[in-house]
Amino acid sequence: MPNGKGRPENAPIAGLPYVYVVQQLVDFKNDLRASADPRKTNTAQMIQAAKAMTDEEIKAAASYLAAMPWTPWIRVVEADTVPAMRLSGNVFLPAPGGGTEPIGDRIIETPEDSVRFELRDPHSGFIAYVPRNSVAKGAALASGGGNRTLPCTICHGPDLNGLGPVPGIAGRSPSYIVRQLWDIRQGSRKGTWSPLMQQVVAKLSPEDMLDLAAYAASLGR
Ligand code: HEC
Repeated sequence: MPNGKGRPENAPIAGLPYVYVVQQLVDFKNDLRASADPRKTNTAQMIQAAKAMTDEEIKAAASYLAAMPWTPWIRVVEADTVPAMRLSGNVFLPAPGGGTEPIGDRIIETPEDSVRFELRDPHSGFIAYVPRNSVAKGAALASGGGNRTLPCTICHGPDLNGLGPVPGIAGRSPSYIVRQLWDIRQGSRKGTWSPLMQQVVAKLSPEDMLDLAAYAASLGR
């Protein structure tokens, strides 16, 4: 996306620290960052793109992205019931027939406005429907660790907006966040700095990952 925010199936890269962006591109290049799901073909495309970049291009891209301020554009809504959805490409859109369905143990990320979304309007963001109480449960885990992880705030900063070279996760796509936690847990994301996260994800349940992502996405509005 021109605003660097990405769609749920990509990555929100605006406003990430310069050294972090450089490290990720180098990790992609060195086959240290892949998707744990072989069906996720766009990660393979990202790896190809990184491999084609020169060191100068990597530095230029990282400077550009680090200079773009991150602004929130995801509205987190706790719900038991969501509009019935269908997959359109890689994204959920409301089903043409209308109706509702139970959210279950899912996060449903969908554009606020599907027409402006297709036009790639940089001012039209997303709604993330999340299960009830997930934001509060995620907040407790993020600040206290719940005896099964480290507080996220130690490294990602008190507001989860990032600290030094550690990336911000506040206000960013919850689908992306869960994918990263899962990839690190599965070992397909095993970059130079990933060991710092391996201890964090080792004992997280899928529900914990969902709660953390719901909380992180809700910040910064
Ligand atoms: C000990 C420091 C540390 C702690 C604690 C920590 N993180 Fe991280 N986190 C990192 C580092 C370093 C990276 C970059 C990892 C890499 O390069 O592979 C990272 C990366 C991430 C990413 C990927 C971000 C992106 O843009 O791809 C997510 C998501 C994340 N952490 C979530 C969490 C959550 C949620 C918690 C709390 C449960 C947490 N982290 C606790 C250090 C930490």
